[in-house]
Amino acid sequence: MKLLVTGGAGFIGSAFVRLVIAERPDYSITNLDKLSYSGNLENLASIQHHPNYRFVHGDVCDAQLVNELFEQERPDAVVHFAAESHVDRSILSPEPVFETNLRGTFVLLEAARRHGVGRFIQVSTDEVYGSIEPPAEADESWPLNPSSPYSASKAGADLLALAYFRTYGVPAIVTRSSNNYGPFQFPEKLIPLMITNALEQRPLPVYGDGLQVRDWIYVDDHCRALLTVLERGRPGEIYNIAGNCSLTNLEVVRRILRSLGRPESLIQFVTDRPGHDRRYAMSSAKIQAELGWKPLVDFETGLATTIRWYQENTGWLERVRTGEYRQYYARNYEQRDAELGRLVRLRGR
Ligand code: NAD
Ligand code: DAU
Repeated sequence: MKLLVTGGAGFIGSAFVRLVIAERPDYSITNLDKLSYSGNLENLASIQHHPNYRFVHGDVCDAQLVNELFEQERPDAVVHFAAESHVDRSILSPEPVFETNLRGTFVLLEAARRHGVGRFIQVSTDEVYGSIEPPAEADESWPLNPSSPYSASKAGADLLALAYFRTYGVPAIVTRSSNNYGPFQFPEKLIPLMITNALEQRPLPVYGDGLQVRDWIYVDDHCRALLTVLERGRPGEIYNIAGNCSLTNLEVVRRILRSLGRPESLIQFVTDRPGHDRRYAMSSAKIQAELGWKPLVDFETGLATTIRWYQENTGWLERVRTGEYRQYYARNYEQRDAELGRLVRLRGR
């Protein structure tokens, strides 16, 4: 099987590439990645010279490049991870989100339609269902109700993929996973940000009251689910991929502090994220019943592994916290009230 993976230098994409190279010796992978701020070839250092792996530096929005790749490689399947993946950045600067997440998906689907492909996996998110009142859990037919520019762009891309299945027969499958965590995650997301700030004895910025609920899945469990869907999923279908581990953000932060022996006084409650979804909750009964997948890593084990990885990889951390990262950090945290106030004021006009 020849795979075209997009965004394979990011957090989840690189875990998927490493998994496939380790467990599927008869698969080959071409990884198309633009190396945006979160793309990092260091994440793939362990497999970079493997004969079944090839890296192509480029943008999924570049139709000419994408078409040339399809012609050269004739992939049997596309696994589409490439995205602007961070909600806070999508609020501060929505434009790149729509360019990559919507237009990029369109360019890939068009190439898949023209050249033919055996599977097209659209890697998506539980955020497309929006906030869900307890005790409900979204199944795959739950209405879409995205709140942020990020989740709206993912919902749009999902619908486009499903429309390409119905209209043109492109064998697209949409997967929707909950919050991933694990090694190599860019330190803008909750868990790596809180681990690294706690390690450095800096304040841990919790949005609003911290009682928002997320479902956590260890990244390798997500990647095994994606491989299962790639190999045995049904075209035109949607599969939810949940970790069955619902926690408030505050509980996650407290567990990190406890594991590191740091005081709770490091927690700093800050202005809430605009449009912040209160609770995500999904049922993954379908993938469990149809394809026999289930998560294997419990949160305690996964969090301990993740914390250890950040403690042991301070060099990686230093190299990803570039000037661009520090600028983003200043906008989203140090100048938070001014930046968010400006956005909300404009909204009110
Ligand atoms: P990430 O930000 O770590 O990685 C994104 C990758 O995409 C990077 O390597 C980046 O360089 C690449 N990229 C960005 N724009 C590109 C472009 N125009 N062309 C080519 N490459 C480009 O993100 P992640 O957390 O690994 O998420 C991967 C996918 O999984 C995304 O589609 C995201 O929506 C989805 N997802 C993420 C989570 C999560 O918890 N992180 C949960 C559910 C779904
Ligand atoms: O649910 C799946 C989604 O999970 C993916 O689709 C996204 O790509 C991924 O970024 C993630 O989105 P979230 O917004 O849920 O993740 P994030 O790590 O940014 O935030 C998790 C929760 O923690 C959320 O309720 C906001 C809160 N938070 C986050 C940060 C970064 C804080 O309270 N403080 C913070 O500094």
